[in-house]
Amino acid sequence: MGGFAYLVSTVGASVAPVLLEVLTRMEFRGRDTSGVAWIEGGELKVVKDSVPIGDLYARYGLKDLRTPRLLGHTRYSTHGKADPRNAHPHVDCRRRLAVVGDGALRNYEELLMEVLRRGHRVESKSDFEVIAHVIEEFLDRYGSPVKGFLEAVPKLRGFISVAVLFADGIVVAYTSHQPIYIGLGESLVAVVSTLASLYGIADSYYEVLGGEVAVVSPEGRVLFVDVEGRTVVKSPQPLRVSGDLVSKGGYPHHMLREVYEVPYSILRTASAVQLKYLEMASRMILQSRRTIVIANGTSLHAGMVFSYYLTELAGITPLVVSSSEFPLYYVDNVGVGDVVVAISQSGETSEVLRSTYEARLRGATVLGLTNNINSRLTKFSNIYLPIAAGPELAVPATKTFTSTLILLYILAKYVGVVAGRVEKAELGGLWGELEELSRTILSNLDSISAQTRGAAEYIGRCTSGYVVSRGITYPLALEGALKIKESSYLHAEGVEGGELRHGPISILDRNVFTIFIEPLEGSAAADMLNLVAESVSYGSPVVLISHSLERSDLPVKVVRVPKVSRHLMPVALAVPLQLLAYWLAVLRGVDVDKPRRLVKVVTGSSE
Ligand code: AGP
Repeated sequence: MGGFAYLVSTVGASVAPVLLEVLTRMEFRGRDTSGVAWIEGGELKVVKDSVPIGDLYARYGLKDLRTPRLLGHTRYSTHGKADPRNAHPHVDCRRRLAVVGDGALRNYEELLMEVLRRGHRVESKSDFEVIAHVIEEFLDRYGSPVKGFLEAVPKLRGFISVAVLFADGIVVAYTSHQPIYIGLGESLVAVVSTLASLYGIADSYYEVLGGEVAVVSPEGRVLFVDVEGRTVVKSPQPLRVSGDLVSKGGYPHHMLREVYEVPYSILRTASAVQLKYLEMASRMILQSRRTIVIANGTSLHAGMVFSYYLTELAGITPLVVSSSEFPLYYVDNVGVGDVVVAISQSGETSEVLRSTYEARLRGATVLGLTNNINSRLTKFSNIYLPIAAGPELAVPATKTFTSTLILLYILAKYVGVVAGRVEKAELGGLWGELEELSRTILSNLDSISAQTRGAAEYIGRCTSGYVVSRGITYPLALEGALKIKESSYLHAEGVEGGELRHGPISILDRNVFTIFIEPLEGSAAADMLNLVAESVSYGSPVVLISHSLERSDLPVKVVRVPKVSRHLMPVALAVPLQLLAYWLAVLRGVDVDKPRRLVKVVTGSSE
């Protein structure tokens, strides 16, 4: 993942200082590596390193670079670690084009084999280098950069946006899903991957939508075509970005931006899955004596959903335990033949690291799932799968939770296939299912945000409350309560629906809210409506997060969530819970990105 920009001055001025500013504004998308490319005497020059863009400029004297056309990138590692070779831009064998981009190439392994077979020199582990070689093939065949690029596009599957600088000064920019923006300034044209980065340098912009290609001439003229090469007519829109929101990508908080990134990050996660490792991980689980899932906090809740997935799809029920508890009792019972699935967004949580280390010492095999492939968890694991959600800066985990769920769903489904319990053909429909989920969440985000804001106002004066659900959405009740506590400091507890009458219901009154997440299992859903009515009768302000209710006569606040396929409903239902926690925090005046006493990575407690 990363942010990228290409700048061309229409008056021949140097654009190096502006590019530094633009890329610095995108650093929330990653800063493990950075790089720039330009043309000098008809040749492509590339400078890149495993440092943030500011350090790259200082180290290589780039501020003094006098070039009117400059392509640049700042990266978060998803394929290939933070190594200069994996940094963008990537060039083809004959250095006739330089590629930068965002996302993950779903058919990376297949295309890598193809270009290697054809004798290309591939120097990195980045999927975007493979894209450079694929385009090179078509450039050779058709001679023209634009024609060559358009012919290459159908080969590129997955979630990607790219900008390619050709040695003749033409730039093409293409996206399969998330938009790219073309900013128009007084004497500058900018191709950027985040709109807010255009603040102060452009007055208007075009949005390049999925399936469209922007072509920028060496002089800065812009035209748009679709992937068939047909002209697309577009009008520029005035740019309205507030200066104080630039460092947060145009949002008031990183947390809100990261929830709004959920539709994109779930596709990025799916695209980053490499079949070879998925297969290895699945066989590991199937051949094991026992599967134990360890994690903390939000990652632990994702692990609990995995237990439902794996039980239903593969007939295997793992033990899910907090990594803080694992070393106290469980570890001594672990040995050769056991698989420990360690989930950690940061890959640096000390309890997770300690537990995986201890498990390996005793002969267990460790499968790590992390959003940080440069973390120690990847080193402690026998194999790891990247969550690939992109950097998450707010302390409350949001898009990494939904992406972890996606990865665990794909894993469980694959285990099911290898076990012979799920038809192999079902895998073919997986990408479509995820695209549908992404589209549905994207088109409902504003409505869910408005509804949850109303719900937050409804329960915001309470002193505490419950988040209740049953079945596969029960872990979401735990997650919703955690999110509310850490984001807004309002006390909340996650309760399994059947347990409500076994004690918790006794404290319900007008100061204690209840948030019900409608279960997916038919009988549980009917029971829950009775519980809703009962809670209302005790005076509790009730919020019902529902995927089926058309209308309700109950005096409750209903938050409607669109229906997606059943296994993906936990992902769709996570979004309103995250937004509800966000709005509660805003109402209660909490700095939601940095709640008191909490840090993004919990280290040092039990090492
Ligand atoms: C999530 O919102 C919390 N900040 C916290 O519970 C977190 O999930 C936990 O500390 C585990 O972190 P990890 O996934 O990086 O290991």
